[in-house]
Amino acid sequence: MQQKIIILDFGSQTTQLIGRRLRELDTFCEILPYNKFPKDDPSVIGVILSGSPYSVYDPEAFGTELADFVGRVPVLGICYGAQYMAHRAGGRVEPAPSREYGRATLCGVDGGSPLMRGIEDGAQVWMSHGDTITALPPHYRRIASTENVELAAYEAEDAPVWAVQFHPEVFHTLCGQQLLRNFAVGICGSRQDWSPASFVETTVAELKQQLGQDRVILGLSGGVDSSVCAVLLNRAIGKNLTCIFVDHGMLRKDEFRDVLRDYEGLGLNVVGVDASAKFFKDLEGVTEPERKRKIIGRDFIEVFDAEARKITDARWLAQGTIYPDRIESLNITGKTIKSHHNVGGLPEEMHLRLCEPLQWLFKDEVRRVGRQLGMPEHLIARHPFPGPGLAVRILGDITPEKVRVLQEADDIFIRGLREWRTEDGDTLYNKVWQAGVVLLPVQSVGVMGDERTYEQAVALRAVTSSDAMTADWAHLPYEFLAQVSNDIINRVRGVNRVCYDISSKPPSTIEWE
Ligand code: XMP
Repeated sequence: MQQKIIILDFGSQTTQLIGRRLRELDTFCEILPYNKFPKDDPSVIGVILSGSPYSVYDPEAFGTELADFVGRVPVLGICYGAQYMAHRAGGRVEPAPSREYGRATLCGVDGGSPLMRGIEDGAQVWMSHGDTITALPPHYRRIASTENVELAAYEAEDAPVWAVQFHPEVFHTLCGQQLLRNFAVGICGSRQDWSPASFVETTVAELKQQLGQDRVILGLSGGVDSSVCAVLLNRAIGKNLTCIFVDHGMLRKDEFRDVLRDYEGLGLNVVGVDASAKFFKDLEGVTEPERKRKIIGRDFIEVFDAEARKITDARWLAQGTIYPDRIESLNITGKTIKSHHNVGGLPEEMHLRLCEPLQWLFKDEVRRVGRQLGMPEHLIARHPFPGPGLAVRILGDITPEKVRVLQEADDIFIRGLREWRTEDGDTLYNKVWQAGVVLLPVQSVGVMGDERTYEQAVALRAVTSSDAMTADWAHLPYEFLAQVSNDIINRVRGVNRVCYDISSKPPSTIEWE
């Protein structure tokens, strides 16, 4: 049985990070809404209560049935989680004189507490709270303080309960991983057996059992998630998996051909559908970004559905949904607030059931699983690419000629990033989160040979990021930018000016449209 730690989400922005940190300790965990603790699940070895935007005194503050797990499995409260447990057990929680935010150092650490093993006075932690615990319940004791917060960490004497006022999951809490290791491994007894190899082994066995001889359809995008999902399913059910890869005409240069070849090389049963003519026709003259997206989304569903209907005995629709997609899709009251379906509208009458084997994985774990499955590195390390493709990088209306120009410029930029070595021997491509070229609706004057030119301007965009929620423009070397600019202007007919986008997100999004 796969052991797991349950993280109950009370709405903190860093709840997902707690999950990531546990996975880094090769410990499987699930993040669930604060009131959805799975009673009677014998695989649960511990519970973590997250922080929250609320104060325990807010009328709308989230509460949970502590008796479901306190005293049964070890519990760790973080920030609000610490205040909530103290408050419920008879302690006192009060507004801090001022909201505490930022670095603090621990003092009075009780090295005898199993939570504090290996953590010493002076360890740096990160605080972010408005309330503070001013008195502990009976039979609870303090195990660490900071200069401003006397009760920075506590434990119960009569139950396996620990809590910290600071955030061990954030990077700035330097002893955070040690503390979480003390909890997960030392206290809960995690075997630390979650690994890509164990994931592949158990998931393939589960898929075989779940799917039997059923036929399954999967939409491939060329991206990491759907590709890994396909290879995993292929290992479990082989030819009973049919993958559909739609070319909407706005992929990168030669991408449809190259990726299709990769997929075939991996032994996948894949149908490639070139529907570019339909997309170009429907997009003719459309300039408004959201309308472009809608048309592409609608056409994509039509093309995908038509192809899927040919597989008349299909029983399942597989999707490469990953954990962050699911977390974004659920709010903590357990209601779906955003549909995460990548391929969307398959008709109800097809009665397809959903199969999402990567639904518990974070992005970096998907990549590790891909490597475990022996997939080529260039498929695994691919940058994210928007569903509507180059359509959102051509400002204004879309024509096949504009796509051709952009594909050529983009190819020079991306190829350059792949080939340019940095000091540590890695490539610039691997250093950036995402990169591409934007075709601007601007013409400018230039000179080529003895001729005056009046041609298109393009912008290069490259960003560093860890989740695309925020992003910084990549500080690419000037020599590299100079070479790319030269190559584009010399080799791409129709472009005579290259700019570099030096804006960060927020306020500027990664894509221009
Ligand atoms: P923004 O431009 O919002 O992009 O900073 C964040 C991330 O999302 C990608 N993106 C999209 N992906 N359909 C997609 O599948 C879209 O319409 C879309 N728009 C943006 C973008 O490439 C970046 O990775």
